[in-house]
Amino acid sequence: MSQRQRRILVTSALPYANGSIHLGHLLEHIQTDIWVRFQRLRGNVCYSVCADDAHGTPVMLKAQELGITPEEMVAKTRAEHHQDLLDFYVEYNNYYVTHSQENKELCELIYKRLDEKGYISKRAINQLYDPEKQMFLPDRFVKGTCPKCGAEDQNGDSCDVCGATYSPTELKNPRSVVSGAEPVMKESEHYFFDLPQFEGMLKTWINSGVVQKEMANKFNEWFEQGLQQWDISRDAPYFGFEIPGAPNKFFYVWVDAPVGYMASFKNYCDTNGIDGDFFWNTGNDSELYHFIGKDISYFHCLFWPAMLEGAGFRKPTAVNIHGFVTVNGAKMSKSRGTFIKARTYLDHLNPEYLRYYYASKLNDSVADIDLNLPDLAQKVNADLVGKVVNIASRCAGFITKKFDGKLSDNIENPELLKAFQKAEDEIAYCFEDRHYHKAIREIMGLADRANQYIDAQAPWVTIKDADKQAFTHDVCSMGIHLFRILMIYLTPVLPKLSEQAQAFLNDDFTWAGAQDIKLGHEINKFKAMISRVDVEKIEAMVEASKENLKETPSKAPQALDAPHTDNASPLASDPISETIEFDDFAKVDLRVVKIVHAESVEKADKLLRLELDLGGETRQVFAGIKSAYDPADLIGKHTVMVANLAPRKMRFGMSEGMVLAAGPGGSDLYILNPDDGAVPGMRVK
Ligand code: MSP
Ligand code: ZN
Repeated sequence: MSQRQRRILVTSALPYANGSIHLGHLLEHIQTDIWVRFQRLRGNVCYSVCADDAHGTPVMLKAQELGITPEEMVAKTRAEHHQDLLDFYVEYNNYYVTHSQENKELCELIYKRLDEKGYISKRAINQLYDPEKQMFLPDRFVKGTCPKCGAEDQNGDSCDVCGATYSPTELKNPRSVVSGAEPVMKESEHYFFDLPQFEGMLKTWINSGVVQKEMANKFNEWFEQGLQQWDISRDAPYFGFEIPGAPNKFFYVWVDAPVGYMASFKNYCDTNGIDGDFFWNTGNDSELYHFIGKDISYFHCLFWPAMLEGAGFRKPTAVNIHGFVTVNGAKMSKSRGTFIKARTYLDHLNPEYLRYYYASKLNDSVADIDLNLPDLAQKVNADLVGKVVNIASRCAGFITKKFDGKLSDNIENPELLKAFQKAEDEIAYCFEDRHYHKAIREIMGLADRANQYIDAQAPWVTIKDADKQAFTHDVCSMGIHLFRILMIYLTPVLPKLSEQAQAFLNDDFTWAGAQDIKLGHEINKFKAMISRVDVEKIEAMVEASKENLKETPSKAPQALDAPHTDNASPLASDPISETIEFDDFAKVDLRVVKIVHAESVEKADKLLRLELDLGGETRQVFAGIKSAYDPADLIGKHTVMVANLAPRKMRFGMSEGMVLAAGPGGSDLYILNPDDGAVPGMRVK
């Protein structure tokens, strides 16, 4: 089937240059890479670019902390990120960096065009300023007392205790996170992009199928709240590009980051003699796709298309938005060892395991994706080792040993072969529309049929019968043809395994190649291709990912009265349990936590849902203490939790630990309350 050759440009979101790539990022890169490889295998022209996102306050401060220039830090991180991705077989045409000459020039060009068309305005605003560090403070860099409930040590934009949102200027007792100094209000002139002028265009665009339906609905809610002018400037000191004609004013990182897609592509095109403008000009049939996570959709679906439109460039064909990765049912957590860096994974496991697992779960929705490690092992072992590669290993030996390494000239079961070839359309549709999980299900269904076929023909029996040599040859050849088709379909997901299969089959895969059959073709000796997942390696990876909880929160908690009871002898009704060894006790990781939120769980008469601050990490725990406590009274209190209890899925959500309480029950139940001085995260020992 011949098709028009499409011309496509694809991007993944640019990882920030101040941290490592982790398995969450990899969901996106793998999703993108599978799509791009699929397009290329189909014969389309498909370029893909990415880069490190170099600019902004966090990058600048991190470099200062390390005592190096931001340029040095970014160069080092970029190289690391790039290698991590390559080792997962994620291959962009260019992996660049936003701190580049191309990007600077493109930002200036776009800004100039927007300014000329009257989309830029200036006005003075008041902001908190760190007089010691001599810099304006972004919201996240100010802490203080909540103006609504009085809780201390709250962020500049919202309160974890009462949930109020406010501007950092409303905080009582504000402190700069950078220096600890008390910020002062300072006026400064800022540049604004007139987003509201694009409202009509954006509404039409968003509802024209460029994002998933569920996201379009979300955006329609945002439209109802009204679009605001967007503050695109930041004052020095800032690591970024200076705004032309505005000394000491810099583009906010989210201005130059998406332009970084253009810049990375330009850098590639310039070095390879490609006409890159074609992909950014309006009025042609080139296609442009961005793959991103749901947290950054506002930037990609409102600001970015408006900037493109305002500057006379084409808008994306679609923005493909994915959900977040959770690990074993919970948010990735450093203390549990489920915040797994790309490199730590690579130190222990084969990257194709993860590619296959993510593919088997990915669809086109924005729902979160759970990486369940035991499930990963089970799937890879059952599907890849037990089904797909098994087909080749069952048939190849006979071909090599008994039939001179040549496939037969006959098709033993034309119907079965036809079924494998006919599946191409459906599988292609699944890849194209990002229903990778369906593609995998189809392919594994076919693999089952291939194995059933081999089981039924039993070549290991017929090979012993002198009259059935030709038949055995046909059956084994049939197995190899089927294996080949499956591996063509799996090529976008498993490029390395596919390469091994191509070497074994003495072939060069294309998608259309599934329709040709290699009669009489010579194949090579079969070599082992992929090994089973070793569960111990998964455990070692999790162990290596565990980081100790920090024990340095800023201040001591308020004193709380210890609970009193008139119960004369609680021991009488609850005798001491049998003795345990110290080692057994040491396994229980007890931590001081602060109850930052508490609410009763509807439809559960005993349960409260608690959010516990462990000193840097928040856990959700369902505790059976509703009969004894009014949730409002618990908020702000310190207590003790078992922090390493395996998370448990309850009807209402995940319970990620347990709080300790004493008493017979009912209203006679008391949570443990550490003495003054204990702070969240401290280990109880
Ligand atoms: N630098 C910006 C993107 C600029 S694009 C012009 C940024 N960087 S990031 O490093 O925080 O995130 C990069 C991508 O990884 C985003 O699409 C984000 O949604 C995705 N993910 C980060 N953590 C993730 C998970 N835990 N799970 C899935 N994707 C996640 O945002
Ligand atoms: Zn509050």
